[in-house]
Amino acid sequence: MNGMLGLKGNKACILAPSILSADPLAVGDSIRSLGGEGDWIHVDVADGHFVPNLTFGPMMVSTLRRAFPDAFIDVHLMVTPAEDFIGMFTNAGPNIITVQVEAARHIHRTLQAIRDAGIIPGVGINPGTPVCMLEPVFHLAGLVLVMTVNPGFGGQKFLPEVLPKIKCLVRKRAVQSLDFLIECDGGVNSGTAGVLVKAGCDVLVAGSAVYDSDDPARAAREIRQNAELEWRV
Ligand code: DX5
Ligand code: ZN
Repeated sequence: MNGMLGLKGNKACILAPSILSADPLAVGDSIRSLGGEGDWIHVDVADGHFVPNLTFGPMMVSTLRRAFPDAFIDVHLMVTPAEDFIGMFTNAGPNIITVQVEAARHIHRTLQAIRDAGIIPGVGINPGTPVCMLEPVFHLAGLVLVMTVNPGFGGQKFLPEVLPKIKCLVRKRAVQSLDFLIECDGGVNSGTAGVLVKAGCDVLVAGSAVYDSDDPARAAREIRQNAELEWRV
């Protein structure tokens, strides 16, 4: 897809705070408490099958869209079979829908369906899944999401063994003249942001590091500042 890297502009990273760690009774207020320090709204959809957690449905996405008409809404589907959920989420008005490659019976068709609905398709890989699983669909993806923890829950520890996959994606993107963004999800905080951006990550998802903080705006700013330090080195 064309123009995806342009979304990042001249920044170290795009920051996508995950509402999985926001106050469930006050998600809108949690987002507002960032005071604009977050770039995207990351919505983690877990089905209790693909991952052992049950979270949000399409109604959360459409409600967010009404409350934040100009927001960039980044939906991360951790559901199986992914194709059965596409229609209900495309209708909810997100900007990106990412499906896990392990959760789709027909990943090519699924990404195409998202694209046909006018939404940016993303494809995710778990820590135990190799990058080569994505090769046949690179050209369809506007974003590749690299899970840096096993998916399902916030607050887990970053898995550094995933870093070579980010570097591998950067190389393949350049060699094949592709334009997808690389998003990292899980265990992102001000301590891990630098190494991720240095490896080539464009979009940092952060849940607990932002929303479990007493001052989410400051926490988001610190993540961004640490990313910038490494990015300029
Ligand atoms: C985990 C989700 C993540 C989660 C990250 O399955 O995909 O987006 O919210 O949470 P933290 O940042 O707390 O690791
Ligand atoms: Zn996520």
